[in-house]
Parts: sequence; structure tokens; C-alpha cells
Amino acid sequence: MACVVIVGSQWGDEGKGKVVDLLTEDARGIVRFQGGNNAGHTLVVGGEKFIFHLIPSGILHQGKACYIGNGVVVDPQVLLLEMDKLDKRGIPVGPEKLRISDRAHVIMPYHQAMDLAREKAKGKEAIGTTGRGIGPCYEDKSSRVGIRIIDLLEPDVLKAKVEANTKEKNFWLTQYFNEEPLDAEHIFKQYLEYGNLLRDYVGDVPAELNEIYSDGENLLFEGAQGIHLDIDHGTYPYVTSSNPVSGSVSSGAGVGITRIDDVLGIVKAYTTRVGGGPFPTELEDETGAWLGDKGQEFGATTGRPRRCGWLDTVVVRRSVMLAGITGLCVTKLDVLTGLAKLKICTAYKTPEGDVVDTIPASLERLAQCQPVYEEMDGWNEDITGARSLNDLPDNCRTYLDRMAELCGVDLSIVSVGPGRDQTIVLKNPFA
Ligand code: IMP
Ligand code: MG
Repeated sequence: MACVVIVGSQWGDEGKGKVVDLLTEDARGIVRFQGGNNAGHTLVVGGEKFIFHLIPSGILHQGKACYIGNGVVVDPQVLLLEMDKLDKRGIPVGPEKLRISDRAHVIMPYHQAMDLAREKAKGKEAIGTTGRGIGPCYEDKSSRVGIRIIDLLEPDVLKAKVEANTKEKNFWLTQYFNEEPLDAEHIFKQYLEYGNLLRDYVGDVPAELNEIYSDGENLLFEGAQGIHLDIDHGTYPYVTSSNPVSGSVSSGAGVGITRIDDVLGIVKAYTTRVGGGPFPTELEDETGAWLGDKGQEFGATTGRPRRCGWLDTVVVRRSVMLAGITGLCVTKLDVLTGLAKLKICTAYKTPEGDVVDTIPASLERLAQCQPVYEEMDGWNEDITGARSLNDLPDNCRTYLDRMAELCGVDLSIVSVGPGRDQTIVLKNPFA
């Protein structure tokens, strides 16, 4: 029996979905514990491409149950749409396969309206959110006025909450942001209907997960976003509104931290970031554009081009520390094939000339830090067929080994292509 957590160690889009899909083989339950449909996981299975925003990537497997924990913010419309799409592709999602926490908060139309209005008002200072209402939904949760999944099943409670919240949001929308108001009655009816459609899927997720644990079976926790988008530990305010660190499994799914055995940190072989905010190793040149093109770096949720740059091990080392990462999963190594020279950032240089291993809390200060690089020779050989480390060219091996050494964690998995089989598994945490 083991509990394994998958986290993104950069700014999201590290390729967590593929690793989750791979490890799902050995797990009984696959669990999301934070974030919402701001996430986008692209999977390629049997040459077919799947994109999920809310449903855990493990859904493609037979005989597994997927869980949406209380820490997730759920847009029921998006969830129902994903269920429907899977159904149409011959993968029915019944209530034995998908469980939704009765305590998860619901993203309402006014959350999305507020998200968009606030971003618009910020102009050049915009965070570059996904515009899905994630932040405002977590705001309401903290303000103790949020609507939870259980409320969708209780018409009187839902009606009162929707009326009160819509009234307040409409004040902000019309009086402060100059936007159109929303209709409470319409929202109430629509969300009551969503409740009816989801009723059978709703349950006490912590109790169900702990039962699986007590039965001696494996659980896999699927983190969304990345640790440097964490609201506490990331590059605030250019962050998301949840905590992608591994510790959130406890608050966001109801499984205690003493149950966790391993934390796998997913590291893209280079770095990307979508949206605004600091990015010390960003390449605003031909190489950056080349990486974006070769790596197909477009947001799975918004379609925005991702910013690209060299691997930053200051960023990854901090994630190792913050999330207690016990194994590294390197993804998209094949994208680097064909570059004559590769750079790895090993430290930052402060304006005073000190070489440091810290990310300053002050964004002004961070902007003054320069990455310190180590340069390495690249490789030209196609590595997408590699199935063991011995199949990799020497320079590629050297790059990988240096990555692991600088991050201070052993390699668990190396991905050399989008397909499920294009993978080198060195250490399976469930084995
Ligand atoms: P929000 O989560 O939509 O509020 O967006 C806040 C920031 O997090 C923006 O910079 C987004 O681009 C970023 N973000 C949110 N979810 C993801 C993700 O799954 N991958 C990468 N970036 C994300
Ligand atoms: Mg993504």
C-alpha cells in the first residue's frame, strides 16, 4: 500500500498528466486535491489526444475510481461537459468511477465574471489568469459565503446563497467594473439542475479515500499547476489561488500527511510559464521561439503561447524543499534534441554580485537577479525510441545526470515523447 503525490515543480504544464496516467496502472484511486478547470492535462493514448481540465487523468483506465477532493473548485458545467465527451468516445463515467466531494466549492457564473472584469481593469498589470473564475471562487470560500457541492442538492439553501451572492457581485460588476449584472433566478435554476445531474456522484470523499487506504490499496494524488504558482510559495501575486504543494493533500482531500509515502516532482527539461510574472531564465529570442514551436507550448486551457526558457534549478530545488520531493520525473527531454548548446541555471547573481540559491520574496529584487548558467553540449540523435538510459546519447545522459545532481533528487521517470510507451521508468514508487 502506498500514497504517492504528483506535483509540478515549475510553473505548471510540466507534463503531470502523462505521469499520472502511467502510474494509474498501480493505483486504486486517483485524486485531485486543489485547483479547478484552470488546469489542462493533455494525454496521448493509442495515438488519440485527450484534454482534461477537471476530471483526474486516471479516468481512461478500467476499474479505477477518480476523486475530486474538497480542495478543488468545481465548475459543474465543465465537469458535465467532460463526462459527456468521454461518454461519446466510449468511456462511460458512472458514479462508481467518479466521486465528487460534497464539500468542494462551486465556481458560479459571477466568479467567472469577476475574474474577467478584474483582469480587464488591471490592464498591463493583469495576472494573466485563465479567466475561469478560480480566484473569486476561492475568495468566496475564504469569505465564508461560498456555495459547496452539497448546497446544489438543497434547493432552499442554494436559492438563498445565490440571491445574496449575486446581489453583492452585481454591485461590484455594475458599480465598480462597469459590466453587465447577472440574473440570480436564472443561475439558481441552472445550478439546481446541475445538482440533480451530479447527485449520484457526490460523496464523503475523505471517508472513501481512507477506506481504500485501510484496505491496503494504492492512492495517487494528482497535483495541478506548479509549486511556483502556489499562493503562498509562488511568485505572488502572479500565482494561482490554491496551494499546489504536496501538503495540500491533507487539507484538499482529507488524507493525513502521515499517510504520504512519496512525492514525485515533475520537471520539464526546460522551463515554461503561461501568463504574467517573473521568469528569470526566459528566452525572448529565437531559441525560446524554437522551444515553443518544437514543444508545442500552447496552453491546454486557454490556447495561449507559453513563455519558454532554460531549465532553472533554483526553481526546482526550492520545489524539492517545499514539497519534500523524493523522485524526479523529467518530461519533454526529446524537445531539446537538435540544440547545439544547452544551458542550465544553477544559481542567481544579485546586483551586489553575490551568487545565491534563493528566490527573493520581493519581485523588484527578483527582477534584478541574473541567472548563472552552466553550458553543456547538446545532442542530435532521435531519443524518442529510448526505453532505457543506455539508449540515450552521452550528452543527453550528462544533461540528465546533471539535472538530478543539481536538484539533489534521484530520477524516477524520464519521458522521451508524448506516448504512454515513450517512457523510461527507473523507479516506480508503487513497486
Ligand atoms: P488562475 O489560476 O486562472 O487564477 O491563473 C493564475 C495564474 O496561474 C496565471 O498565470 C495562469 O496562467 C496560471 N495557471 C493556472 N493554471 C495553470 C496551469 O494548469 N498551468 C499553467 N499555468 C496555470
Ligand atoms: Mg497544463
